Amino acid sequence: MVRRIEQQQQKAVNWMIPGNESVLEVTIGYEQVAVDLTANLAKNEPDPYAKSVLDFALLEDFDHLYRYANLLDLTQKKSAGEITGKYTEIMPGRPTSLEHRHPFDDVRKHYDDKKAHPLTKLHAMAITAAEQQTMNFYMNAGNRAEDELGRGLYLEIAQIEEQHVTHYESLLDPNCSWFKMLLLHEYTECYLYYSMMEHEEDSKVKKIWEEHLDQEIEHLKIACDLMKKHEKRDPERLLPATMPDKLVIFESNVDYVRDVMARQTDLNAVETEFVPSAKMPKHGRYQDYQTAVNAHGVPSSDVIRGRIQERGEDYRQELAGPHPVEKFRARNGQAKAA
Ligand SMILES: [Fe+2]
Ligand SMILES: [Fe+2]
Ligand SMILES: [Fe+2]
Repeated sequence: MVRRIEQQQQKAVNWMIPGNESVLEVTIGYEQVAVDLTANLAKNEPDPYAKSVLDFALLEDFDHLYRYANLLDLTQKKSAGEITGKYTEIMPGRPTSLEHRHPFDDVRKHYDDKKAHPLTKLHAMAITAAEQQTMNFYMNAGNRAEDELGRGLYLEIAQIEEQHVTHYESLLDPNCSWFKMLLLHEYTECYLYYSMMEHEEDSKVKKIWEEHLDQEIEHLKIACDLMKKHEKRDPERLLPATMPDKLVIFESNVDYVRDVMARQTDLNAVETEFVPSAKMPKHGRYQDYQTAVNAHGVPSSDVIRGRIQERGEDYRQELAGPHPVEKFRARNGQAKAA
């Protein structure tokens, strides 16, 4: 019964995206959401490990935005900056070609449900859902591109989005009972709709958030009843007394992203830890995986090369000066745009 309502909500929200946006234009929106949602959560994340997990994938989705923006410019002669507005920068992050990792290096350490801060749980659930939606969108809509370059780019980035789903979902405590998970899911939905409602400027859209929040409060109550009935546990003791005062807000995060970029572009993952590339095992499975997956061309690099061939430089939207990482400053492919 609850799920019937969830599917109606999904349609109400998803159908707000206008039909005259192309798949690629919607994609620019997805990656902008990925960047600014992740940055917002990372800023508010109290657990240092969970924060490092958010910062890590932030730079990857940031790079996806850059690759898709170049595809949009190349194939539809449109500027991605007109979609993102002056909120989000568009320039290289951690190069997509380097993001392909062996599956064993994408699993993270899970938090302990009994000790973790409520925000850590809310963040993990929210970002897992966002990455899942992005992955599904690319997997289904990526074949709408007509040329090999576009089809390849979606295929390549959809692979990374699976890595991101794994990366974030593995943060969740697998020892939670099904009823506890249900409780957390419904609580997360309340938190997200409440956040949207609080910051929404469009009065018509605000009504949708209000209505959905009303529905989620009822879902939460149902989840509480189920837990009392089947687990004989008191759900009130498992949830904070009030909503966290840090809400999810969509806003510009230029300085935050630049700061993470300056310090962490070079990071890679070995099992559950993040390490600088110099400290990576020399002939490990990362290199083997890279060799295999990048063997016959790399669409995320080809799209930049294509733009440079046509216009002499890549497409960017640098709002706060030159790229914070020196090797990514050259726009004509001289320094390796990867
Ligand atoms: Fe992405
Ligand atoms: Fe992602
Ligand atoms: Fe719900």
